[in-house]
Amino acid sequence: MITTSTLTSDPSFDAAASRSALLRARLDDPALRAGLRVLTGDRPTGPLHIGHYLASLQSRVELQNKGIDSFILIADYQVITDRDSVGAIRQNVMGCVLDYLAAGIDPQRSTIFTHSAVPALGQLMLPFLSLVTDAELRRNPTVKDELAATDGRPLSGLLLTYPVHQAADILFCHANVVPVGRDNLPHVEQARVIARRFNRRYAGGQEVFREPDALLSDAPLVLGLDGRKMSKSRGNSVMLGDSADATAALIRKARTDSERRITFEPDRRPEVASMLTTAALFRGETPDEIADRIGDGGAALLKQVVIDAVNDGLADHRRRRAELAADPAYLSEVLREGNERARVIADATLATVRQVMGMTY
Ligand code: TRP
Repeated sequence: MITTSTLTSDPSFDAAASRSALLRARLDDPALRAGLRVLTGDRPTGPLHIGHYLASLQSRVELQNKGIDSFILIADYQVITDRDSVGAIRQNVMGCVLDYLAAGIDPQRSTIFTHSAVPALGQLMLPFLSLVTDAELRRNPTVKDELAATDGRPLSGLLLTYPVHQAADILFCHANVVPVGRDNLPHVEQARVIARRFNRRYAGGQEVFREPDALLSDAPLVLGLDGRKMSKSRGNSVMLGDSADATAALIRKARTDSERRITFEPDRRPEVASMLTTAALFRGETPDEIADRIGDGGAALLKQVVIDAVNDGLADHRRRRAELAADPAYLSEVLREGNERARVIADATLATVRQVMGMTY
């Protein structure tokens, strides 16, 4: 199932991939699901797009519908790891809530919450910070990538310690299932290390924190319409809140190539391949099947096929989204309740931490 592990020889990736495969088997078996808790999160830097929908929202809903206890974090403090301002934070956070609910997240079964509303989560970072070295954090591939993407911007303390923050996100609620793409594995590894060290160093070997496992996505990576990573500033992705007309206009003006015959060749024709993948995921078919159907229809037909696939695939989501958007008081209520649930759990975890560390006065 996880074939990417054979492409490189990275022993820690291989170990994580085989744990992920075991975990997937456990998630698929109703008799083995007890004791699993999922935590996932988004950084609310802007509206969610079809990449979020295809790569994470749908699988969150599936996990929830399998009856797995689920936590969804809107990581608002993480927004300022690599930028100077929080931006339109309230709008972006409420937009996440809107898309979660429209996609089928049920706030009775899944806990939706924000960093900033859970102070005890932040406080857990203090003992956790004592368990990592700065060299270790500087080696973290995600920190390195983030830093490289910020054009020589100085490394802030928050960006450097971001893996520790993320470990607190996972460990505060004792989540043991963390759905991530391969690029996010280092975070989960760091959380495992922190759990292990905490238990050994401060809890006399008692298991205060369990080691989480990554659940590696088996969905193909969804790239933007231009074959590059989706980003709002590149204008290469369809936002979940876009109208059907805006979606059609965006896809029509996307660049392709001049070959009439449409084929799925990701290396040679990245834009065409990315469009085919998008249509395929929304239609539940393979990119080759879609390409064969288009045949010699050229870019115009390809675009029409993609437009229809996206607009049909998102029709229900958009209808529910519009209905929910008309009731902002309900959205606030969902978030307030989620925050309250997360606070109760974080307070209890922090109380245990203080107690095992002897800090009860
Ligand atoms: N870093 C994740 C992202 O950029 C968001 C996130 C924050 C997260 N905390 C998390 C993901 C904990 C998984 C677990 O999308």
